[in-house]
Amino acid sequence: MEDLQTNPLYEQVIDGLLENNYSIVDGFFSPEEVFALRADLLSKYEEDSFKKSAIGHNADEHIADAVRGDFILWLDETSAGVERIFLDKIADFAEYLNRTCYMGIRQKEFHYALYPEGTFYKRHLDNFHNSNSRKLSLICYLNTENWNEELGGQLAIYIPKPDGSEETISINPVQGRVVVFESQLLEHEVMPVRQPRLSITGWLKTSN
Ligand code: OGA
Ligand code: MN
Repeated sequence: MEDLQTNPLYEQVIDGLLENNYSIVDGFFSPEEVFALRADLLSKYEEDSFKKSAIGHNADEHIADAVRGDFILWLDETSAGVERIFLDKIADFAEYLNRTCYMGIRQKEFHYALYPEGTFYKRHLDNFHNSNSRKLSLICYLNTENWNEELGGQLAIYIPKPDGSEETISINPVQGRVVVFESQLLEHEVMPVRQPRLSITGWLKTSN
């Protein structure tokens, strides 16, 4: 029988989204899960399977470097490997969002990301090729426990206020933390990093 109990962790994400259009949750993944995903990311990075991120079709590489400096590897939805830890949990979460909030999530796409020292991602909105299908952006940080303020790499989220001003939220990318926000609404930025910064980043998408 389907288990229709409420999930306190998921409810915490939903409350944040409803109230603020974003949510920060620690402990979405256990330290063991984070450790396994981190090791998987690092071994694939060392195998050289990551690609330098791009910013659209024709942008030249210099422009891309001035905008974002991360290296990425898309997760394979059909993989039976370690990334299942992530993909299965996210599938469960998406099903919960659809069941309890009628959110209409139909697809997901996620990639591992590694920001080498000195890289960043300038302020942007997560629209892609003029498509509006990205509904929620979700990032899970795979850094070591000791990530602190001096290492940079904060995620800055810019919150528009009704009076036209703006509030900036600064989030440290600490181990196991998950940040979820409305892809269409909130501009954000990754501040320069002083030590390689690891994450899984992606989108829960509607069909339009
Ligand atoms: C992105 C992004 C934020 C982060 O990849 O689009 O904004 O904290 N990432 O890694
Ligand atoms: Mn983004």
